[in-house]
Amino acid sequence: MKIASITARQILDSRGEPTIEADVWLDNGIFGRAAVPAGASTGTHEAIELRDGEEAYNGKGVTKAISNVQGEILACLKGVAADDQFLVDQKLIDLDGTANKSRLGANAILAVSLAAARAAANARGVLFYVHIADIASNQHKSLPLPMMNVLNGGRHASNSADLQEFMLIPVSAKTYAEAVKIGAEIFQSLKSEIGSSGNTTTVGDEGGFTYPVSKNTDMLDLLTRATTTAGYRPGEDVCYAIDAAASEFYHDGIYDLKKEQRQLNPQQMIDYLTDISNQYPLRSIEDGLAEDSWEDWVTMTNDLGHLQLVGDDLLVTNPQRLQKAINMKAANAILIKLNQIGTLTETIKTIKLAKANGWRTIVSHRSGETEDVSIAHLAVGTGADQIKTGSLSRSERTAKHNELMRIEEADRSLVLAHPL
Ligand code: PGA
Ligand code: ZN
Repeated sequence: MKIASITARQILDSRGEPTIEADVWLDNGIFGRAAVPAGASTGTHEAIELRDGEEAYNGKGVTKAISNVQGEILACLKGVAADDQFLVDQKLIDLDGTANKSRLGANAILAVSLAAARAAANARGVLFYVHIADIASNQHKSLPLPMMNVLNGGRHASNSADLQEFMLIPVSAKTYAEAVKIGAEIFQSLKSEIGSSGNTTTVGDEGGFTYPVSKNTDMLDLLTRATTTAGYRPGEDVCYAIDAAASEFYHDGIYDLKKEQRQLNPQQMIDYLTDISNQYPLRSIEDGLAEDSWEDWVTMTNDLGHLQLVGDDLLVTNPQRLQKAINMKAANAILIKLNQIGTLTETIKTIKLAKANGWRTIVSHRSGETEDVSIAHLAVGTGADQIKTGSLSRSERTAKHNELMRIEEADRSLVLAHPL
């Protein structure tokens, strides 16, 4: 199964911005397709996504990335075995030649890396997660527990909370389908709750409702009301998680919570998160502090290490940054986003490093998504603990939930990863 040709095209993501989709064709006539997502609250240390910077699409076109795929990348990969993912990805990394994939573009590279893996899975006649498990030499496939982002703020919503994500974790669910049911019922209950208070029930980028708060915890109060109304017990059936995405409101040593008109120094920010965790059944905090505040992360992990403390912008799926965090004991869990690092192999390497050190792994979408469901397969194939793939609305989010239910149906021996 050798790579024979590669085509790429510009498609739209869920925000209506252009992104790249690639098709890798094999010499046996079989092909694989993958599309690349994009972030809004991106970390400074992520691999670089190549954008045209020209008039079309306000500079966001990806035609240069497409030319790179159909030119240099195809020339380099033609004849390479698609089922040797390590070789495919190493060739891509070497061809690019930069530390952050800025020459060819991480978007161009990831589209090909994933499409090649898809083509190999198709040629083998196995579901994609099975192929990923084989690449990762993973014997322990499982279904991830979802963290469902039902209330959106920060850069993913206008006129909403400072903190970016308010998520529910259906901890009492025994199956993925049951987790979806709990999430969807609470989502509908939230809609009634918000509608009956006279507010509009619009959703943000990840399909969660927006809500005009005066305090960030208003969101968690709303979530508690909706959970109870839907017939579930906060803290027993459902726990909460937040992604503060704190780098977005951190400037010159200060965390600026505009909705609350409060400016907090790092210790005060840790105290603020501690207060929230004492008041609500909160189990997980992502990016509670800024992306380069390593020492403050260590302090937070000392104080709040009984919770899941997730590094997203801090770690950017990068094995070097993860190793540093492991050594320093800054955080205890990592968010995994393929396009932060740019190849499937490096992503799997990061997941394995995290697991080997007892860290939790959470596979994640981006706020700008497509109908591509590869992350559902990545989570199952690597046996990741959790998945973040948004709310229970917007087809680019539900596509992943639906795919996970299909996978559950296809292999009844897969179990839902343990609750937190
Ligand atoms: P992004 O947000 O995709 O806009 O970066 C997702 C997250 O911060 O987890
Ligand atoms: Zn995040």
